[in-house]
Amino acid sequence: MISVKNKKLAAWIEEVRALCKPDSVYLSDGSQEEYDRLVQEMVDAGMATPLNPEKRPGCYLFRSHPSDVARAESRTFIASKNKEDAGPTNNWVDPDALKAEMTALYDGCMKGRTMYVIPFSMGPIGSPISKIGVEISDSPYVVINMRIMTRIGTAVLDTLGEDGDFVRCLHSVGKPLAAGEKDEGWPCIPNVDEKFISHFPEDRMIWSIGSGYGGNALLGKKCFALRIAGVQARDEGWLAEHMLILKLTNIQGEVYYVCGAFPSACGKTNLAMLEPVFPGWKVETIGDDIAWMKFGKDGRLYAINPESGFFGVAPGTSNQSNPNAMKTIAKNTIFTNVGLTDDGDVWWEGIGTDAPEHLIDWQGNDWTPGCGRPAAHANARFTAPAAQCPVIGEEWEDPAGVPISAILIGGRRQSTIPLVNESLDWNHGIFLGSIMGSEITTADITDKVGQVRRDPFAMLPFMGYHMGDYLKHWIDIGKKTDADKLPKIFFVNWFRKNDQGKFIWPGFGDNSRVLKWITERIAGKAAAVSTPIGNMPTADAIDISGTNVSAEDMAELLKVDKDAWLAEIESIKANYKSYGDRLPKELEQELAKLEERLAS
Ligand code: GTP
Ligand code: SPV
Ligand code: MN
Repeated sequence: MISVKNKKLAAWIEEVRALCKPDSVYLSDGSQEEYDRLVQEMVDAGMATPLNPEKRPGCYLFRSHPSDVARAESRTFIASKNKEDAGPTNNWVDPDALKAEMTALYDGCMKGRTMYVIPFSMGPIGSPISKIGVEISDSPYVVINMRIMTRIGTAVLDTLGEDGDFVRCLHSVGKPLAAGEKDEGWPCIPNVDEKFISHFPEDRMIWSIGSGYGGNALLGKKCFALRIAGVQARDEGWLAEHMLILKLTNIQGEVYYVCGAFPSACGKTNLAMLEPVFPGWKVETIGDDIAWMKFGKDGRLYAINPESGFFGVAPGTSNQSNPNAMKTIAKNTIFTNVGLTDDGDVWWEGIGTDAPEHLIDWQGNDWTPGCGRPAAHANARFTAPAAQCPVIGEEWEDPAGVPISAILIGGRRQSTIPLVNESLDWNHGIFLGSIMGSEITTADITDKVGQVRRDPFAMLPFMGYHMGDYLKHWIDIGKKTDADKLPKIFFVNWFRKNDQGKFIWPGFGDNSRVLKWITERIAGKAAAVSTPIGNMPTADAIDISGTNVSAEDMAELLKVDKDAWLAEIESIKANYKSYGDRLPKELEQELAKLEERLAS
């Protein structure tokens, strides 16, 4: 029996214990010693492979079940009391029915396992902006990842006190063990249709079962910090967003804090750790995935990073694309689903070194170059402490947050959307945020390849309520302060391609060329051309010296393609229709104004 002072927590632990029937209950203290012990237990059980301490000290490799490799969007549910409140973009289920169904699944689901109780803080412990959650999980992998990604343990319980409130996060891999049975590999429910990642917004509660991977299982991340916190933010007048936060210092020593909303696997971690191409310029990281923004006393929006680690995409990460990420993951890092070299190091596609002649792939099989299979899964990830990032900003744990000057938004669009475009004002910026999206590259049942999937503010998979209400919330935020105190919103696109399907913008560190123009616009120093879609750089405003971007490429990158935009408008209209009467009238007006500007 464990004892905790918080009465609601004590009662909840007891309730979950009685339902899930674990062999034992363990309260996490968050210590290094506890982390080391859990890792050793998993190594002994064959769940984890220690990497070569001379190459990757303190690092471990995990291989998940091949069915359990990413967030399961089709099994992510928003169980609000009213179906209307979940909106057209979410899977809604009646909360009472879902609770009944999942209670049956949870019954006895932890047999043969330890039930870990993990108190965690999103944001620095004790900060007025931070929020506390408690995750109950039967996965020791979750405990060690949560220790890197959030602040966990005894200090959180002390802050919670006897009566404090917390978000209840219940997680099980859904694989009870019979007496004497041992795990073979990664426990989970392999059939995706039997997994559940459920949110009860009114109860501020999350119930997940069947998956042990990423955002399905590390419930502080997308489930709490975006879907549930999004509802709290709506109710309390702040913003919980899928955004990186960076600090940019120019050669004059002027500092700008910038947020960026890009969909999953569209470059947040890369931009957050970017190395500028201009001598004397510096980018430092505050956060790489989530930003919580609240108004300060001065009327500006201040952002904190609620996380304390990076759960980053491994493939494509190299000393060329993201040297600072490579340094961050040199030690004390958990790797999941990457390749294992014969000398005990990691390898993945795009790591920047030639493939070794032999390795063990992410599924545990022998692998040789040219065998036709990838060595690492495309969504293989590293979990690394933010404090290890060589360019972490000194204010990254400041409980007050950092004042935001600009918000970047953008998806993966091979045409139409220019390299950069400055919004005309706040509402126009929200309009641009509402129309962002990416071309669908792999066919699934509901969508067509090449069609644009609208992903407002990169929040489509992370919305805890109605998308129309969310966009209205953004509009309302703009009314709470003076217009000149609001961040300026810029629409960017690093992913333009030519007719041969090749990227025409170099991206990565070269994105600093665009950041430079953006900060010069904020300072009132850079010229812009007024176009129907917004304010754009003059032909020579973006410094491309030393790149292989030609003047023709640049013209293409900055072109306003009227016909393409007229087609875009038709597609936006169809998307807006799905929001019904919850589409803010301000956005309808912005769309009409765009149509007029394009026609004149
Ligand atoms: P999540 O963690 O899923 O939210 O992803 P993220 O937005 O942090 O994306 P990340 O920075 O990990 O980048 C994902 C992929 O995009 C990697 O394969 C990168 O190599 C690629 N990428 C990032 N930035 C750029 C860029 O500027 N240009 C191009 N062409 N690719 C990029
Ligand atoms: C994303 O998909 O945007 C991620 C990874 O950051 S996960 O935590 O699995 O959601
Ligand atoms: Mn993300």
